[in-house]
Amino acid sequence: MLSYQHAYHAGNLADVHKHAVLAAALSYLTRKDKPLSYLETHAGRGLYDLSGAEAQRTGEAAQGIARALAALPGDSPYLAALRLVRARHGPTAYPGSPLIAQALLRPCDRMHLAELHPAEHAALGATLAGTTARIWHQNGFDLAQSLCPPDPRRGLMLVDPSWEVKSDYATLPGFLARIGRKWNVGVLMLWYPLLRDAPHASMLAALEAAFPEALRHEVGFPPAREGHRMIGSGLFVVNPPWALAEAAAGVAALIDRITAR
Ligand SMILES: C[S@@+](CC[C@H](N)C(=O)[O-])C[C@H]1O[C@@H](n2cnc3c(N)ncnc32)[C@H](O)[C@@H]1O
Repeated sequence: MLSYQHAYHAGNLADVHKHAVLAAALSYLTRKDKPLSYLETHAGRGLYDLSGAEAQRTGEAAQGIARALAALPGDSPYLAALRLVRARHGPTAYPGSPLIAQALLRPCDRMHLAELHPAEHAALGATLAGTTARIWHQNGFDLAQSLCPPDPRRGLMLVDPSWEVKSDYATLPGFLARIGRKWNVGVLMLWYPLLRDAPHASMLAALEAAFPEALRHEVGFPPAREGHRMIGSGLFVVNPPWALAEAAAGVAALIDRITAR
C-alpha cells in the first residue's frame, strides 16, 4: 500500500537539487542532434499546485523553490522549464520531473513514465494527455527491466523512489547494476534522501563499488521542521554527461546561499 504523496513536498529543497541537476543533464543531452529516450521508474503526478492545501500545510516549497527562484541564473534550464510550465498552468504551478523533462525534450525524443499509485497515475495521464509520452501503471523497476536498453539507445533514466519500501536500499545497487549491464550508455540518475541516521550509507558503498566512475553529489540543508529526518539530498549518476559535476556544484552553491542563516 503506497501512502507517499509528493504534493506535500513538491518544490522543496530536495526537489530544487534533483530537478535542477536533472534539467542540466537533459540540456546537455539534447544539444546533440540525435534522439534520446527518457525513462522514469517513479514519476509521480507530474504537476503540482503550490497554493494547494498539501503544499501550504508543510511550507516546504516556500523554503525551496520560492527562495531559489530569485537566485537561479537566467540561463538555467530548470528555470526555463519552470517558466514554461507556469506559462501553461499558472503562476503557482510546479513541475514534477516528468514535466521538467517534457519541457526540455524535443519531438524526436521518447518518454516512458511508470507510476504505481492509481490516483497519481491517473493525474499524470490527464496532465500529459495528447502528448507522445507513454505512461505505465506498473512497477517502475519491472518496466525498466523490460524496456532497457530502450530505443533510441541514448538517454537518461531517473530513479526517484519515495523510500517507503525500506528494502529499496538493499535492492537498488543490484537493480542499477543489472540495468547498467543491459544499457551501458544510459545515464542512470538515482535520487536518495540524506536522513539523520544515514540509511543510505551501505547502499552508496555498494553503488560506488559497482560504478567507480559515477558522480555522487550531495547537498546538506536545514530540516524542513524541527525533528524532521531529512537533512539533505543526494544524487548518484552513472555515465554523467560532461560538465554535469560543474552544474551540480552550481546548484549546491545556490542551495547553500538560500539556506544561509
Ligand atoms: C518521490 S515521488 C516521485 C516524484 C517525481 N519523480 C518528481 O520528482 O516529480 C515517488 C513516486 O513513486 C511512486 N511509486 C512508489 N513505488 C513505485 C514503484 N515500485 N513503481 C512505480 N511508482 C512507484 C509513488 O506513488 C510516488 O508517486
